[in-house]
Amino acid sequence: MSSQLTALPVVVIGAGPVGLAAAAQLTTRGLPFVVLEAGDGPAAAVREWGHVRLFSPWRYDIDPAAARLLAEAGWVRPDDEKLPTGAELAADYLQPLADLPALKPHIRYGARVAAITRLGLDRVRSAGREDTPMLVRLADGTDIHARAIIDASGTWHTPNVLGAFGIPAHGETGAAPYLDNALPDVLGRDRGRFAGRRVLVVGAGHSAANTILALAALAEQEPGTAVTWAVRSGSPTRTYGGQSADALPERGALGTRLRQAVETGAVTLLTKFLVQRVTVDGDTVQVSDGERTVTADRIVSATGFRPDHTITSELRLDLDPILGSTRALAPLIDPNEHSCGTVPPHGVDELGHPEPGYYAIGVKSYGRAPTFLLATGYEQARSVVAALAGDWEAARDVQLDLPETGVCNSDPVDDDGCCGTAPGAAPLNLITIGDKPADAQTGSCC
Ligand SMILES: Cc1cc2nc3c(=O)[nH]c(=O)nc-3n(C[C@H](O)[C@H](O)[C@H](O)COP(=O)(O)OP(=O)(O)OC[C@H]3O[C@@H](n4cnc5c(N)ncnc54)[C@H](O)[C@@H]3O)c2cc1C
Ligand SMILES: NC(=O)c1ccc[n+]([C@@H]2O[C@H](COP(=O)([O-])OP(=O)(O)OC[C@H]3O[C@@H](n4cnc5c(N)ncnc54)[C@H](OP(=O)(O)O)[C@@H]3O)[C@@H](O)[C@H]2O)c1
Repeated sequence: MSSQLTALPVVVIGAGPVGLAAAAQLTTRGLPFVVLEAGDGPAAAVREWGHVRLFSPWRYDIDPAAARLLAEAGWVRPDDEKLPTGAELAADYLQPLADLPALKPHIRYGARVAAITRLGLDRVRSAGREDTPMLVRLADGTDIHARAIIDASGTWHTPNVLGAFGIPAHGETGAAPYLDNALPDVLGRDRGRFAGRRVLVVGAGHSAANTILALAALAEQEPGTAVTWAVRSGSPTRTYGGQSADALPERGALGTRLRQAVETGAVTLLTKFLVQRVTVDGDTVQVSDGERTVTADRIVSATGFRPDHTITSELRLDLDPILGSTRALAPLIDPNEHSCGTVPPHGVDELGHPEPGYYAIGVKSYGRAPTFLLATGYEQARSVVAALAGDWEAARDVQLDLPETGVCNSDPVDDDGCCGTAPGAAPLNLITIGDKPADAQTGSCC
């Protein structure tokens, strides 16, 4: 690599938990860096779901390099066994990390990355590519030159659509004023939008479960609040998860409470409901699957997230055609194959692209697979930064102490919502915890 290139900073996109972990690793390695964050402070996405409690206790939520830097500055580590909310993750860990004198001068807020390319080269030109600086253009037109890019920009701002076929339903765009994306703060900040309203929640993950339970609690306090839940599959079994058999008590309780809410009639469930059309009708919306129509005052689209690859369209990326992760990572995390978010340790080798010097890490690295864990992202950051420092031995010595109580909600399902994998059978590529497949231990299969 030319000395012109090594003198340039590594640009980290995003000051979320994984972008800041990369910054901690770069600090530790003594590599110059700049973190570009679109929000007006660190953890901008996490703060938006600040009212939600994580499933993973603090011990899995803190990057080891970040913890060392913080400890040197006198930080008091939260209780490893407690479960933080998103707001606590931001306030008690990520804000102090971003405020460390070693990091703060290198983080720019209100800096949205609009595009990445190489200086003087478009995607077609090959000669000298590896020794040519990367160019990062911000939304305000500022250009920044970089030796490498670590893209930890997440997926929070690119939610999946409401339309059941992956493209917007007819009328979805026009109905935007009636639509919330995942995890509105129904009992707090956003209460006024939901109190006394008929609400349709669409989706089958933890976000849907969380919002439905909050709405059911709101309905007990605010007359007229009514909750309908629509899922694409034939059964909500997968969303109920392992319940009392779940090694993650909080996650198990979520499924149990959701099942009770459906069984007591507090929530009306519609299975095999594939949203195709949304029609605004006065102050209400009609949501149709072609045969049935639900009349609602508001819709919550809790349909998951997808990565935004538009900023990298001038780079040579070899993306998996299903997930939009790297091809090497895809078979390890494909929800068509996996019933749990437990992946083998992976790092720089699985995260690289034909474009030298570009790495997506964090939840963006998983593309559309919903099983990402912070602990995985921290190891990705460590491995990629070690490689950028030329320490390939450390970069390839990937270790993953995955939480036994990790987040897991992408069980392959058949039409009845049951797991595609036979009970007791270890799905492909699962790591094992103790002597059981992780999936069996978390009890999230039907
Ligand atoms: C409700 C919820 C609960 C979760 N609970 C757990 C859990 O218990 N355990 C666990 O391990 N994981 C959990 N996860 C999964 C995952 O760990 C989080 O999504 C985590 O926030 C991912 O971190 P990240 O740094 O990759 O991305 P993010 O936290 O999304 O951070 C990305 C950052 O990039 C910024 N950004 C985006 N685009 C740009 C741009 N173009 N230019 C500049 N900046 C940009 C954003 O503003 C944001 O600050 C949970 C996720 C959700 C949504
Ligand atoms: N700690 C917490 O309490 C908490 C709360 C929320 C989220 N989270 C975490 O955050 C991450 C994201 O969770 P998430 O629930 O937002 O997303 P998710 O896990 O991707 O779930 C969304 C689900 O909605 C369904 N879906 C997708 N598109 C749809 C459409 N157009 N119409 C109807 N249904 C559609 C899909 O299930 P089908 O294919 O079966 O239809 C999909 O699995 C996960 O890691 C999760 O564990 C944690």
